[in-house]
Amino acid sequence: MTITFIGHGYVGLVTACVFADLGNNVFVIGRNHDKIAKLNAGEPLIYEPGLKELLEKNLKAKRLHFTLDYGEAVPKSDVVFIAVGTPPKENGEADLTTVLSVAEEIGRHLKSGYTVVSCKSTVPVGTNTRVKEIIDRVKPQQSKVEVASCPEFLREGTALLDTLNPDRVVIGSDSRKAIDVLLELHKPLNGERIITDLSSAELIKYTSNAMLATKISFANLISFYCEATGADVETVLDAVGLDKRIGRVFMSPGVGYGGSCLPKDIKALKKIGDRLGVDTAFLAAIDNTNIKARENFIGKIIKHSPGKKIAVWGLSFKPNTDDIREAPSTYIITALLKKGFTVSVYDPEALENSRRVFGNKLKYFDNPYETLQGNDALVVITEWNEFKQADLSKVKKLLLHPVIFDARNIYEPANLKELGFHYYSIGRKPV
Ligand SMILES: NC(=O)c1ccc[n+]([C@@H]2O[C@H](COP(=O)([O-])OP(=O)(O)OC[C@H]3O[C@@H](n4cnc5c(N)ncnc54)[C@H](O)[C@@H]3O)[C@@H](O)[C@H]2O)c1
Repeated sequence: MTITFIGHGYVGLVTACVFADLGNNVFVIGRNHDKIAKLNAGEPLIYEPGLKELLEKNLKAKRLHFTLDYGEAVPKSDVVFIAVGTPPKENGEADLTTVLSVAEEIGRHLKSGYTVVSCKSTVPVGTNTRVKEIIDRVKPQQSKVEVASCPEFLREGTALLDTLNPDRVVIGSDSRKAIDVLLELHKPLNGERIITDLSSAELIKYTSNAMLATKISFANLISFYCEATGADVETVLDAVGLDKRIGRVFMSPGVGYGGSCLPKDIKALKKIGDRLGVDTAFLAAIDNTNIKARENFIGKIIKHSPGKKIAVWGLSFKPNTDDIREAPSTYIITALLKKGFTVSVYDPEALENSRRVFGNKLKYFDNPYETLQGNDALVVITEWNEFKQADLSKVKKLLLHPVIFDARNIYEPANLKELGFHYYSIGRKPV
């Protein structure tokens, strides 16, 4: 098939590369000349494991084309996916300005024939219908357009694998023909197929993210009880998670969820509920607990750090990505800077993005151990693999004081005690 993606971010670029690799002819439309030139030269602009190789391979095979020109891509396409951002407005609602403006562009550039248009962007219930209304208003008469919601569930850090092996492919539409076109396109991918109506498909995405956020906030809430009672959160959650009705996956205590999806989607779902007259106090509580989790951790550092010079390992909102949007690290570092701390940082992939946010307010290092020298304590914020088996004796030698604050419980308290550290983690007794 010939397909087009509007947007070349974490969703658009990854999905475009995977569909090109499966043999489709794929166009990707952007809006910035320099970025399109870089992509056509094989530079992915974002970090995702395996992405650069897949991009280069499919450019070489001439199955992937980056362009600014809707006219080059849209008229030829069987399917057009909208994969632009849907950031939160000040009031928490999803901002659909870009989705709706690219819908109009799509409509204006259609020629003849049949096209399926589908939002991969996470959008409130009713948005795909609005997209169709906009396209119908501006498209030429001889073209026929149908919409289908095909929400995206990939996770940054494992996006390529997730796209090839999704747990499920959700397709929502009023049109059997549109569903069949998308089923055919997704044929080589694994995963269950859920075929449904537009509203259900749109709501499935928000519900999934709300459930993931719930699990994290619930784990954090229990960690507060553990810290107040001396119980051990990991043991409590291990035991609870063994109940097959509950499960342990994603019930992770820490400094809360971040990234470009969960924080904004919880807020957007709350707004959708408020409009519908649904009581959304539950969603507000998830959000509040998320904020409390990082505030709790910031409080521990301020209270127990032996000095005001700290080293931070891990800036991205989770491992294996360079994405720092809504990352707990940005909130924690901002709070510490306000309290007069000096902060030295290391991250395997997110230094460049962090430099854009913090400029010369931080000291940046390319090596985790060099970050430690002359600092009073180490704060581990993101659980990158390379931190899990770090040489802790070396860490102790390099720090001015043997103090570690661990936001992800990646070390064993007994082990740290034996090595002579003061160790503060989440929902476990300090040693
Ligand atoms: N990142 C994830 O893990 C993930 C997973 C599932 C769903 N989603 C959803 O998918 C959507 C996109 O997320 P993302 O992380 O890829 O965002 P992103 O910010 O990484 O990418 C957005 C892309 O849209 C492009 N864009 C913006 N305005 C444009 C315009 N007028 N014309 C053409 N391109 C334009 C940007 O240049 C960028 O390439 C969001 O709704 C998000 O909630 C994201």
